[in-house]
Amino acid sequence: MTGVGKSLHNQSIADPRTFWANAAKMITWDKEPENILDETNKPFYQWFADGKMNTCYNAVDRHVAAGRGDRIAINYISPVTQNQYQITYNELLAQVSRLAGYMQSIGIEKGDRVVIYMPMIPETAFAMLACARIGAIHSVVFGGFAANELATRINDAKPKLMLSASCGIEPSGVVPYKPLLDDALKQATHKVDHCLILARHQYQADLTVPRDVDWQSALQDAPSVACVSLNATDPLYVLYTSGTTGKPKGVVRDNGGHAVALCWSMKNIYDIESDDVFWAASDVGWVVGHSYIVYGPLLVGSTTVMYEGKPIGTPDAAAFWQIIANNNVKSFFTAPTAIRAIKREDPEGKLIQDFDLSCLKQMFLAGERCDPDTLNWSQTMLGKPVIDHWWQTETGWPVASNLMGVEPIAIKPGSPARPVPGYQVEVLDAMGEQVAANESGNVVIKQPLPPGTLTTLWQNDDRYVDSYLSMYPGYYLTGDAGYIDEDGYLYIMSRIDDIINVAGHRLSTGRFEEVLCQHPAVAEAAVIGVQDKLKGQVPLGMVVLKNGVELTDEELHSQLLALVRQEIGPVASFRLVSAVPKLPKTRSGKILRATMRKIADNQEYTVPATIEDPQTLDIVRNTLTRMGYANALTKALGE
Ligand code: COA
Ligand code: AMP
Repeated sequence: MTGVGKSLHNQSIADPRTFWANAAKMITWDKEPENILDETNKPFYQWFADGKMNTCYNAVDRHVAAGRGDRIAINYISPVTQNQYQITYNELLAQVSRLAGYMQSIGIEKGDRVVIYMPMIPETAFAMLACARIGAIHSVVFGGFAANELATRINDAKPKLMLSASCGIEPSGVVPYKPLLDDALKQATHKVDHCLILARHQYQADLTVPRDVDWQSALQDAPSVACVSLNATDPLYVLYTSGTTGKPKGVVRDNGGHAVALCWSMKNIYDIESDDVFWAASDVGWVVGHSYIVYGPLLVGSTTVMYEGKPIGTPDAAAFWQIIANNNVKSFFTAPTAIRAIKREDPEGKLIQDFDLSCLKQMFLAGERCDPDTLNWSQTMLGKPVIDHWWQTETGWPVASNLMGVEPIAIKPGSPARPVPGYQVEVLDAMGEQVAANESGNVVIKQPLPPGTLTTLWQNDDRYVDSYLSMYPGYYLTGDAGYIDEDGYLYIMSRIDDIINVAGHRLSTGRFEEVLCQHPAVAEAAVIGVQDKLKGQVPLGMVVLKNGVELTDEELHSQLLALVRQEIGPVASFRLVSAVPKLPKTRSGKILRATMRKIADNQEYTVPATIEDPQTLDIVRNTLTRMGYANALTKALGE
């Protein structure tokens, strides 16, 4: 190892302007930027402030212009519909420029918002790119969210247009999206003028309201339009993610910095160039889907696999390996939870042996903490490097990773390796002092963050500053806790807030509590994330009932599960809830969630000195034991 990665990192921190000016050569500019990093509006930094470009041009048109139009852009593989087909860059250009033409014809302009609520089909990528083409700001909402969550996002983003499909298809059956969309629009206070609905034959949507238009018919007469030249700093998209309150945060991504950072990461982190095939098995509704199903692979002119299926059950635990082998996938990205699901079905990795995986160079894992077991199992079974890497919706691309396109460094299970160039990661204590090697604290990133990271929260600069920049001025607070070892390897251990991570999906316990309290029988609720062998964490609720409630345990349980499913959506995976007479609280009324979580996960805990009623912890412990969590040995320190 020659330390190339380390030296790149040093350069990026010592002279970020030169580093990113060089990286910016990977994209095609209408006007090349001279002002590489604008600091006039600190703490709001701007990358490439005077540059002009278009993200769609860079992801589509320029590859066609370079004579690579016949190259496969999207390889759509859908076991749930038993369908697979490929879309070349020529075809992608035709589809996207017509959809953009339709949008312009109904008055969508630069800066207008478009909400996309769609399944994992190529049209979802067309929709995102068409917005990018005309400077409209897209906001994709994950299909597993319920109507109410969609309505919250509609109210915040205030779109002129919504793009959706008649249905999504899950292994459990058809999920009609259109009724969810109608319900969301009924609940939303913001009124949307136009809905473009893609008909899928598995479910026929009702298009009788004048605002609803059939996708195929609308596009028949639509003109093809060219890309609009945008400022590098114009927003490309808003993506909502869970915060600690019930109100999601609208992460804003710009155009120029995003395109540069993603191109840089495809080559240097993921080891992907234009002749390669890349597959991120996630969903376009999450940041992984934005960055590495749609934009990243297309920006570098490679082939992206778009998979409408699951790691298991569509049809079996061999699905991933079969697709990798049959489609020449070089780098593959999934979440640890998917590997755990496969391991559960095929513990000895027998199915892996049926395929020639010589095309695969490495597998990347992210979305949640990667337990060493999962990493070691997959590395042994595949015989390939398995790369744990760490990032968040806010950063948009990896903060810490092995640089597989530069120089791989030794893998330490449990660590996503070292900070990536551009990111100066530190671990601070409560006073803002840097802690020693191997000591835990709050993981922060020194400002300015590199290109491609969030620029603010949608129309809420104050919340952006409050949430991320106010605790340690000059630093971005990641919300994760961890440590850095003596070799500079980072370890991300847990969240410092009430966010939980369920099967790689980030959810707010505060939102669960809000929903539980909507039930007429519930006076108070506390929700924690408890460890789960498959999903990493799952939510567990405890509720205090109002006096005089006459419901059986079974009735209460099923009503609360149904309520969460209806209000948050199936993605919540909410199955564990129990009534308790009282919740553990401090004397100032704060629920002791961290202590409850420790008890549930069988960790030693201290009884906080400020506890209002120590007996409430015994109640929690007994309840959790009944629910199959805290075992009889779980004890408070000194007990
Ligand atoms: N539209 C509608 N419903 C959806 C959906 C979508 N796009 N995605 C998920 N759901 C539903 C599922 O059908 C399921 O509903 P159910 O309760 O009726 O069965 C529910 O949401 C939970 O889904 P999921 O989290 O996928 O759990 P699962 O138990 O069906 O499958 C795994 C377990 C491990 C196979 C699955 O979680 C998985 O593939 N995880 C990978 C995670 C991932 O890619 N994360 C992205 C970050 S990188
Ligand atoms: P999201 O914004 O949904 O991508 O979730 C980001 C959060 O997931 C991070 O802040 C971490 O808490 C967690 N996370 C993602 N990747 C990793 C990883 N490789 N190791 C540990 N935690 C991770």
